[in-house]
Amino acid sequence: LDIQQFRDDLLNWFIAEQRDLPWRKDKDPYKVWVSEIMLQQTKVDTVIPYFNRFVELFPTIDALSDAEEEKVLKAWEGLGYYSRARNLHTAVKEVREKYAGVVPNTPAEIATLRGVGPYTAGAILSIAYGVPEPAVDGNVMRVLSRILSIWEDIAKPKTRKTFEDAVRMLISHENPSYFNQALMELGALICTPTSPSCLLCPVREHCQAFMDGTQGELPVKTKN
Ligand code: ADE
Repeated sequence: LDIQQFRDDLLNWFIAEQRDLPWRKDKDPYKVWVSEIMLQQTKVDTVIPYFNRFVELFPTIDALSDAEEEKVLKAWEGLGYYSRARNLHTAVKEVREKYAGVVPNTPAEIATLRGVGPYTAGAILSIAYGVPEPAVDGNVMRVLSRILSIWEDIAKPKTRKTFEDAVRMLISHENPSYFNQALMELGALICTPTSPSCLLCPVREHCQAFMDGTQGELPVKTKN
């Protein structure tokens, strides 16, 4: 794999083809955080109107910190997984109290916030702060399992580490934000779970599964 060529092809595709999504309009760490929490268990099309309403009601860390929990949950109504909203509310207050209202920009500090797991931490660090940290979710594991022909079971918790190491090896240090978002976007638009659109894929010539004809068998995911 020619890593530099892979990065260039992936980033050029993302620059040309990325969807116009509301959370891509600015890099406010708070808004990136809200969007990534919403996107964890909910599809992009569903999230868009909720995200817009939420940041209009609670435009800043201060505004969300001051809000009554009831109002926050009301704004979340319909998205489900309400613990996400409660945790976000708690964590935002923690940022105001412990970090003077500034979302921390180091992996160690950001990981201490309630509801911020490794995926969310990496997404905020890379997208809002340009820190070259991996943001590995199921989509990213699917895409990279194919490109690199990784046959580990993505249902196993320890497999995430393999993919985080892969991202650390591949990530653009010039633009970690676009690199991570391009992997997500490729998973959403091209490298889909069933019948991926390999003929439209900007990185198919770097893709081991495409070369081997195994894209339909990857990722390996045991049900349980
Ligand atoms: N899924 C998770 N994070 C995303 C993002 N920032 N853009 C699009 N889809 C996503």
